[in-house]
Formats: sequence, C-alpha cells, structure tokens
Amino acid sequence: MTLKDAARDVRKNAHAPYSNFKVGAAIRTASGTVYQGCNVENVAYPEGTCAEAGAIAAMCAAGEREIAEVYVIAECPAPVPPCGGCRQKIAEFAAGDVVVTLATTDGIEKSMTVADLLPGAFDASFMDNS
Ligand code: THU
Repeated sequence: MTLKDAARDVRKNAHAPYSNFKVGAAIRTASGTVYQGCNVENVAYPEGTCAEAGAIAAMCAAGEREIAEVYVIAECPAPVPPCGGCRQKIAEFAAGDVVVTLATTDGIEKSMTVADLLPGAFDASFMDNS
C-alpha cells in the first residue's frame, strides 16, 4: 500500500464531530513500516488530537523513532497545512530533508521538506549549555 492510500484510508476513521474536518496521516519510517493516524476530537477538547500526532504516537508505541516520509490528506480547497504543534512533533523525529506531502482528497498535492515546514526549528542541541 502506498503512503497516499494509507493516509486516505485512515482518514475515514477520523472522529471529528465538532469541526467536521477529517484528516488522515501516514508515516513511513526508516525500517519501511507505515503508521497511520487520524484526528480524534472530544467534547472537552474539541480541537482534539491531530492525525499527524496520532501517526507519531503509533510509531513510537511500536518502538520506532525515525520518520522517512509523511503524507497528510484532508478535504479542503488547498493541500492541508499541518498545525504548528504537529510541525514541531514531526521535526522531533525527522531530518530536515524528509519530505512531507500535503494533499486534498481531490488529488492536489504539495510536497515540502520538514525544514520548509519549520524553519529555525528548536531542537535538543539548543539545550546544550554546559
Ligand atoms: N487537524 C489535523 O488533524 N491535522 C492538521 O494538519 C490540521 C488540523 C485536525 C485537528 C482538528 O481535529 C481539526 O483538524 C480542525 O482543526
């Protein structure tokens, strides 16, 4: 299954009763395994958990930490941009040159790198103050 198909399929399982905006995300890791995530909203936190965060959680739960490629899809007029928090979460597990493809369900795609998505990212190296 392609990363695109994995993201498109999991999007169907999104739980988005408050925004009515379903998002699917798929991550391929360095091992070649694909992890999927969809957004999940709830009444106390209607903004919910993003699809990208769900895919990252699945990856970590499986013991993996190295993202090789990301695909995110939603039904919108232009390719869905990951929120700021998800950009930081992706950058935690991906090199700057990793490709993130943003897509619409109508088939418009925009490929960016992690460094494009989050220029000047904060990372653990900045905490080296010894
Ligand atoms: N959302 C995602 O899951 N990923 C994105 O890249 C953008 C936004 C979700 C969060 C929330 O459930 C809904 O879309 C509206 O913000």
